[in-house]
Amino acid sequence: HARSASTAPAVKLNSVGKDDVAHFSSILAPTSIVSSLSTAPATEDELDQYNSDWIGRFKGQSTTVLKPKTTEEVSQILKWCNEKRIGVCPQGGNTGLVGGSVPIKDEVVLSLSNMNKIRSFDPISGVLVADAGCILQTLTDYVAPHHHIMPIDLGAKGSCQIGGNVSTNAGGLRLLRYGSLHGTVLGVEVVLPDGTILDQLTTLRKDNTGYDIKQLFIGAEGTLGVVTAVSILTPPAPQASNNVILALPSFKNVLPLFQTVKRELSEILSAFEFIDRTAYDLAVKHGQGRALTEEEVEGAECFVLVETSGGRREHDEEKLNDLLENLLTADEPLINTGVLAQNPAQFSSLWALREGVTEAVSKEGKAYKYDISIPLSSFQEVVDSTREHLRSKGLLHDKAVKAVLGYGHVGDGNLHLNIVADAFLPEIQDALEPYIYEVVQNLRGSVSAEHGIGAMKTHALPYSKSQVSIDLMKKIKNVFDPNGIMNPGKVLE
Ligand code: FAD
Ligand code: MLT
Ligand code: ZN
Repeated sequence: HARSASTAPAVKLNSVGKDDVAHFSSILAPTSIVSSLSTAPATEDELDQYNSDWIGRFKGQSTTVLKPKTTEEVSQILKWCNEKRIGVCPQGGNTGLVGGSVPIKDEVVLSLSNMNKIRSFDPISGVLVADAGCILQTLTDYVAPHHHIMPIDLGAKGSCQIGGNVSTNAGGLRLLRYGSLHGTVLGVEVVLPDGTILDQLTTLRKDNTGYDIKQLFIGAEGTLGVVTAVSILTPPAPQASNNVILALPSFKNVLPLFQTVKRELSEILSAFEFIDRTAYDLAVKHGQGRALTEEEVEGAECFVLVETSGGRREHDEEKLNDLLENLLTADEPLINTGVLAQNPAQFSSLWALREGVTEAVSKEGKAYKYDISIPLSSFQEVVDSTREHLRSKGLLHDKAVKAVLGYGHVGDGNLHLNIVADAFLPEIQDALEPYIYEVVQNLRGSVSAEHGIGAMKTHALPYSKSQVSIDLMKKIKNVFDPNGIMNPGKVLE
């Protein structure tokens, strides 16, 4: 398997020229174009934020960023690009972790950030219809006074957009309770590569009228069209939420703990998140969340954050307190200790320990991020064996790999295996791949649980998908985008 990040798009595409930019100027307001080819040329610095990805690993060379304000403008842009065979890279909040949101070469960046209006909200059904460029946190704040929440939550909520969430089929911290976007997204509006507007923006809960085409756009990572609006079901806000961080003496206790917690908390359990000791130490080192006391962390090999969301505070607190007491007084306790949030500030601070790992990792160094689905029983073994593998290659030292850590959505079988290095080095890359993908394949897991394929994992698709599936994906791509203009080099090689 060849490395894909540098693989050129299979289809011959054209670069944007001054004539194209002049045409875009007839469609868009001057402030909606950032281009080094326009009459008021943008500098490289101005273009850099659109060409660089969040982890600093992928870099495009786009000369032109278009920021349409309406679906009609998106349609006209795509129609032109399709006719002229110009590649288009849709970009939301640019928080994606697999290099999907930045061009590989000099594709046009189509930023959705100016499409940020809420179209409607029905407080009875809880259905929200919003432009694709609405930021997740903005939507959360919008529905809050109506006593609703977004069905999705993730550490990037302050920057990521709902269109990006849908396009990556992002999982996040609430999937355990509210399920995936394949269930909560009711409809989408999409501009197809030839400029056709596909209006599937239904607000119906039930609609069994043949093929459910919107599902193809959920997780398509911009390879089939541009999502311009989303209709999504927002659940009622829980009356009470609480959380506790549990310190475990050994990883082998995580599985029985999960079973116990599910049994005892049943309907109020809303998250069961895992961080290993290295992840915890990094989060604390980089100032994320509330550090536990030395006594509380002593002898802890890993931590689990449990959140409850329910209808009545006293009832939920009683259940959570009973759980803690039962865990601590058991003959062979599964936990060393548990730290219960006592107020909203502590609640947020405990969450920050878990959510802040991503930020902490990026502050520590360059991150090789593997987002895998594997059996829960193998989580620790995979983290440990990767560390040993790197050690055996002589790469575990200050000038190469600084840390190997595991965290993630245990309740969903999703491990985030991160390797933090001093720099992105070919010898580390070669040690990690195909090693990790083979481990995943042997466990019949997935090489991407929730972050997607982007540019990073196109070569890794065969480890999780059969050739028959990949061939069907290529046929689907060809139906929607026969000229291959949409996000070339992403998802499919
Ligand atoms: P971008 O990064 O801009 O784009 C992502 C992909 O979608 C690209 O391929 C892009 O071309 C495409 N795209 C974007 N918008 C559109 C559109 N309107 N139409 C068509 N294609 C589009 N992910 C999880 O699943 N779970 C997590 O818990 C999680 N936590 C994160 C925490 C942090 C701190 C960070 C930085 C990232 C995290 N992510 C997580 C990664 C996640 O995929 C993104 O944060 C988010 O879903 C992407 O949204 P975005 O608007 O930033 O999209
Ligand atoms: C998370 O669960 O924290 C996110 O998916 C981001 C990451 O993997 O770092
Ligand atoms: Zn995650």
